[in-house]
Amino acid sequence: LDNGLARTPTMGWLHWERFMCNTNCDADPDNCISERLYMMMADVMAAEGWREAGYQYVCIDDCWMSKSRDAGGRLQADPRRFPGGIKKLADYVHSKGLKLGIYADVGTSTCAGYPGSLAHYDTDAQTFAEWEVDLLKFDGCSMDTTLLEEGYVNMSKALNRTGRPILYSCEWPLYEWPSQKPNYNTIAETCNQWRNFADAYDSWSSVKSILDWTATHQDIIVPSAGPGGWNDPDMLVIGNFGLSRDQQESQMALWAIMAAPLLMSNDLRSICRHSKELLQNRHIIAISQDELGKQGYRTAKVDHFEVWERPLSQGWLAIAVLNALEIGGPRRFSLKAAPGWKTCTPLCNITQILPQYEEVGVQIGHQVSVNPSGTALLVIMPISMKKHDQRFLKMQW
Ligand code: GLA
Repeated sequence: LDNGLARTPTMGWLHWERFMCNTNCDADPDNCISERLYMMMADVMAAEGWREAGYQYVCIDDCWMSKSRDAGGRLQADPRRFPGGIKKLADYVHSKGLKLGIYADVGTSTCAGYPGSLAHYDTDAQTFAEWEVDLLKFDGCSMDTTLLEEGYVNMSKALNRTGRPILYSCEWPLYEWPSQKPNYNTIAETCNQWRNFADAYDSWSSVKSILDWTATHQDIIVPSAGPGGWNDPDMLVIGNFGLSRDQQESQMALWAIMAAPLLMSNDLRSICRHSKELLQNRHIIAISQDELGKQGYRTAKVDHFEVWERPLSQGWLAIAVLNALEIGGPRRFSLKAAPGWKTCTPLCNITQILPQYEEVGVQIGHQVSVNPSGTALLVIMPISMKKHDQRFLKMQW
């Protein structure tokens, strides 16, 4: 969507995977869906390097609303859990140098049963703009699938009419796939990012199934991604309970390769040092945010290794080598074993980013050691040489 937003993949935090629809603030005041949760997260994001690393959006998901609209037909936040209201929360988040995201649904009710926006698109877009919200995640529950396109397009227009830049995050293709192949040209013209596949859970099987789905459908979905519009493989679950250290590195590396929005769903108040360093790794974030804005894809599957590549600006290339074998120990992979490998012709300068940072230097190839369900991440800078230098090189070898 050409609205000036999401020129690089969105970065921020979204409550859903970690905090779900916990509305019981009496029993669980620190973790229930309430204004306090977003204020606390914003505090940490501003104080502990998250904002500086690029994580900008603090996003509310489902279950923030009151069960009914107000007398004027407007959505309202649950008054017990959001006593200050959303506008005040937005002011608070903005005062921390961050942006606020909110959630609504294209159909008659949200997935958790709160009021949907069908027949209220203009009112709701106007309400979000008046509250000074910066992002809308628009879900697709409780909607006739044949009406999804019309609904998502109409909300996009309604947001545009408010005059406020509001990043528009859609779930349209996810809900359309069961009945038809989505039209990704229209989707990319309408939305700043779009979900294609099932929700991310706190497990390797969930993360791996998202990667598998993406690779299987890459010919259809990769071409539509670029500045202003991105495929969204759902939240980063790094820093929670389900992923090993290697698996967390795999999610981070592959989300950067996929030019995916980096929306963390975790508890930043208690995250461990290792997960924090991984999420704030500036080399991986530089790949994610590379200005060429091309999504990477899986280029090879060899011996239970998966090679994923993303073209970067300056003719550079990011390469992720995932060891998909979930048994055994570390296994070695030589880049030259990738079918069609011709990147280092004759030479390239290699920087390894995961599992440890290492300036490998000028090479014709490189061997990496990758743990089960772990990933090696490299940046490759091809060195173009004049003819006589190449001759010299042959003599040397
Ligand atoms: C759907 C979406 C999730 C989340 C929940 C909320 O499942 O795909 O991302 O927003 O609804 O109910």
